[in-house]
Amino acid sequence: MVTRVAVVGASGKMGQLFCRLIDESEDFEVSARLGSKSSLDEMNGADLVVDVTSPAVSSAVVAHAVEQGLRVLVGTSGWSADRLVSLRTRLADRENGVVVIPNFSLGSVLGTTLATIAGRFFDSIEIIEGHRASKVDSPSGTAVRTAELIGEARTGLGPVVAPHVDQRARGQQVSSIPIHSLRLNGIVARQEVIFGGAGETLTITHNTLDPSSYEQGILLALDAARSATGLTVGLENIMDLGISRA
Ligand SMILES: NC(=O)c1ccc[n+]([C@@H]2O[C@H](COP(=O)([O-])OP(=O)(O)OC[C@H]3O[C@@H](n4cnc5c(N)ncnc54)[C@H](OP(=O)(O)O)[C@@H]3O)[C@@H](O)[C@H]2O)c1
Repeated sequence: MVTRVAVVGASGKMGQLFCRLIDESEDFEVSARLGSKSSLDEMNGADLVVDVTSPAVSSAVVAHAVEQGLRVLVGTSGWSADRLVSLRTRLADRENGVVVIPNFSLGSVLGTTLATIAGRFFDSIEIIEGHRASKVDSPSGTAVRTAELIGEARTGLGPVVAPHVDQRARGQQVSSIPIHSLRLNGIVARQEVIFGGAGETLTITHNTLDPSSYEQGILLALDAARSATGLTVGLENIMDLGISRA
């Protein structure tokens, strides 16, 4: 059966990518394209709502869709841990679920997963992330999530070795891990997680070259979202990683 999708933020860069991928798929069709001048009621009648708007708008879009009994796939950034907790509560006892994907890039998600595994074996860990000069926030959401997940994986092992962090050039610490942000013309998005151990270093590097890096993850997420219940966060919880997770 074809899944009817209402795309909120359809005119934006991510929205256009979603619409193209849905148009190319035999399993989905775009039933509505919403923008800043649309009434949220225009999503009614869809089976699934895609939200790719802005952090300030996303909560209201998701709340409206959930109240209408619709499933939702969120690609918009800015879903903090607090917002996710209240969304999980809102979804309790409902059949319709929400999938929140902070990063659709398979390589980035795999890089973070590998870093989470390595994080238990090294006590010196630092992250260098780079984005184009126009990105206003730092550190990036992906770097913050990588540091948080490494921190969770290191539960019981204590903070990483991060000397001299009172000096500004030593970066901003998240879960005790220093993060250094580059904002440079010429970069799309890149991240290095560097692990230091006895007589060796390990570096896990991911480079985003262009938005086609999102396509495979978007298709996986659309497929997962059409039968979702409860709250699912992160592509790593949809992909078959072939490893047992703690
Ligand atoms: N998860 C990922 O892998 C990933 C990757 C890239 C980006 N993102 C995130 O995805 C989001 C969208 O990024 P983008 O680059 O596509 O942004 P964009 O090009 O600026 O597009 C934003 C879209 O949101 C719409 N919009 C704004 N206010 C709205 C409202 N009140 N109601 C409904 N629609 C509204 C805009 O519609 P109008 O044209 O009518 O104003 C536009 O279509 C951002 O949060 C970005 O950080 C996530």
